[in-house]
This record gives sequence, structure tokens and C-alpha cells, in this order.
Amino acid sequence: MENNIVTIEKMTYGIDSLAHLDGKVVFVPYGVPGDKVKIEVTEDKPDYIRAKIVEIIEPSKHRRKSPCPNFPQCGGCHWQEMHPETQRNEKENVLNFIIKGLNPSHAYPMEPLPMRGYRNKMELKVAFPEDGSVILGNYSYNSHDVVPLKGCIVQCYENMLLYEKLLEFANKPENRETMENIHTITVRTLGEQQHCTFALKVPTSNEEALAPFKKFFDENESLSRLEVYAEVGNLLTQMRDKKPFFFMNRNWRVSPNSFFQNNIEGAEAILHTLISIYSAYQHKGKFLDLYCGCGTQTFLLESMFEEVYAVECNVSSFQDALAHQKTRTSSKINFICKKAEAIFNTPITKGVIAALHLNPPRTGISQRVTRGLSGIKPKIITYLSCNPMTFRRDAKALKQMGYKLDRVYSFDLFPGTYHMETLGVFLRS
Ligand SMILES: C[S@@+](CC[C@H](N)C(=O)[O-])C[C@H]1O[C@@H](n2cnc3c(N)ncnc32)[C@H](O)[C@@H]1O
Repeated sequence: MENNIVTIEKMTYGIDSLAHLDGKVVFVPYGVPGDKVKIEVTEDKPDYIRAKIVEIIEPSKHRRKSPCPNFPQCGGCHWQEMHPETQRNEKENVLNFIIKGLNPSHAYPMEPLPMRGYRNKMELKVAFPEDGSVILGNYSYNSHDVVPLKGCIVQCYENMLLYEKLLEFANKPENRETMENIHTITVRTLGEQQHCTFALKVPTSNEEALAPFKKFFDENESLSRLEVYAEVGNLLTQMRDKKPFFFMNRNWRVSPNSFFQNNIEGAEAILHTLISIYSAYQHKGKFLDLYCGCGTQTFLLESMFEEVYAVECNVSSFQDALAHQKTRTSSKINFICKKAEAIFNTPITKGVIAALHLNPPRTGISQRVTRGLSGIKPKIITYLSCNPMTFRRDAKALKQMGYKLDRVYSFDLFPGTYHMETLGVFLRS
């Protein structure tokens, strides 16, 4: 197709930047606002065009050389060629655009967070190129090609140290068969707690097949826990005594299958905001925390309420929440291991509900939960979301139930990517 010249205007919620060509919107991956670029049209639809950059004619003042050597091959980050402040401004603009129709009384500037070394969780795919080596890394964007993570700037230092050890392990000829049976390797470092999980393609309880994992654990003192599992369940657990994860002045247990925010400083920023929001009100009645994970948010808010219910369907997170509760001298939270959908029209939702906190996965809340919410009338609802699109959909439903979106906070939890965390405060009109 023909080449054309456009100027990039802004970013969208995703990998694409946006420009116009002959009055039509053009979506261009990896553009930076202000760039003058030559593009090649890859898809011409009636109301939009998709194109790729073939030449940067005049780079924008917001463009930088990516500080990560794996960009753009690695699919983990999408916006590394933009200066940090521009990334945040663009995210803020994208969010304000998405939530415009919700008319929030106030949208605070996005809270900046460190740009590097913030990710505590690393998920590695395995590939076997023809040269006989083994690659561990991320899928590249929209493909199943595995790109090595070497030099990654967003993973925390401890994960990258273990990455080097894993690479060494993977490339030992004697471990070849073991590697060929690995689907994914997950590493998470929370303080001194470093967990490494190997997900196998085919289960094995064969001592010989599990021996390389035991050796890897023995040789890597930084690990507090190593697990090998397959679809049939856990095949091996190795543990070493290490200090618990200390966060917000408390010790927590976060097991490998439990949820914890990928960014510890981001999790802290969110918690401080939640505490300040809730402490501004006098609460009479119950507090409901749906999608509570290990209960980090519930535990830090519970003292402001008379009665507290926290709902989580993941057994591992639920058990970690109970384990933490046992370490508290007084905690009144009733943890319930159920789907949020199942709690409506039960004693949990009867009586006066003072406040409701929602923190669902990217898909947002289901229609069943939305219907259930219309039957309870908390004075205040906080909704924390990692997906502004589903946040908008659910916020519209809350508005129809008579809530006003009073404030929106946002946090740059995933610098280098287009992702962000949004916190909405809804008050009953
Ligand atoms: C984004 S995490 C939030 C966890 C917690 N609020 C935190 O910040 O640590 C979403 C949680 O919802 C849980 N979850 C997903 N679908 C659910 C459902 N239908 N009912 C209850 N919990 C669910 C997941 O297991 C996960 O722990």
C-alpha cells in the first residue's frame, strides 16, 4: 500500500498511538505524540485505518531511546520510547477520555511511581531455538515468539538475579528433558520471600524427574519456596525458613497462587489512599470487601467498621487471609471463600451496609454482581480497577443505581506499559 505522512496526536488505551489521515482516524503502534512519521497502511476500514511506522521523519520531543534493550520485541512494555512524564500525562488523558461521560466531580492527577525495578512477579515462557539453546522470556506482542528478558528494566533486581540462575539451569545439557516438559516458570519476590513455581506440561511424580528441581532449590539460597505442579496438582514443594513479607507494618503470608499487586510501592500508595478516603466518614453498619485477595485492604480498613465481610473465591488467597488473621490479636473480619455472585440475598447482605469495596479482576464485575448490588444500598462504594474500560461500564451501572462518581484517583502502577490502576469513589445521591 501507499506510504503517507502523519503527525501523531495522542495515545490510546493500548499499544496504538492516534493520528488522522484524510479525515480518518489512524491507529499506529509505537508512535509518540508529536512524532512526524511516514506510515504504511496495513488495514483500511470504512471508519478507521491501521498502519505501521516505516520512518520517523521528525521525532517528537517526548520521544526517547528505550532504556530497555528488549523493546519493542518483548511484549511486556509498550510505551518505553516515551519520556516518563509523557507516559503519565498520556495515561491521564486516556483515562479522562474514557471516564468523561461519568462526570466525576474530581479526577486527581495520576500518582507517579518508580519507573524501574517495580515488578515483583515474573512469568517466563520457554522456547527452544534451532541453535540448541533454551530461551526464557515474555511472548512478543500478539505472538507466541519468546523474547529473552535479559536486561529487563521493570523486573525487580532479585527476580533478575534468579532469572540468570534459571537461564543457567535451563541451558545445562543434563536439564534438557526437564526443560522440554516446562510450560511456564513463575517467580515472585516479596521481601525475603522468593517463590519459584514450575508448571509442567505432563505430570510426573518420578523421583528422577523431580531431582533437578530439588537441586535448583538447594543451590539457590535466595529461594524461600519452590513448587512444581501440573494440572493434576502439586508434585513437589521445597521450603526454606525466611523472614515473612513485611508490608504496611505487618507480616503477611502470600502463597504462590495467591493474589498480590505486582508493584509493592503501588499497593502501598493505593492502601494509603483508601485509608484516607474511609477515615473521612463516620461509618454505621457493615463493610463489605468483594474480591478481597489475601485481605490486605480489608485488614487495614476493618477498624473503622462495626462488622466486616470479605469475599474471595481463590482458596489460596482465602487461606492466606485466615493465616494473617490468626496473627492479629483482634480482627473481626468474616472471610468467605465464595464467588462474589453467591453472597447476595444471604445474611451477609442483610442489615445496614455502610460501605462496599470492589476490586475485581480485569473483566470487572459480572451482571449477577451488578444485579445483586442494586439490592443493597451502601452510602459509599470504592471501586479499584486495573481496566478503565470495564471500570466505565460498571460505573455506569452504579450511576443508574443512584450513585454519583465523586472522585477518581489513578496510580501509575505499570510504567513503560499502557496499564494503570483507577480508584473511583461513589456516593449515594
Ligand atoms: C485484582 S485482585 C484484588 C485482590 C485484593 N483486593 C488485593 O488488592 O490484594 C481480584 C481478586 O478477585 C478474585 N476473584 C476473581 N473473580 C472472583 C469472583 N467472582 N468472586 C470472588 N473473588 C473473585 C481473584 O481471585 C483475585 O484475588
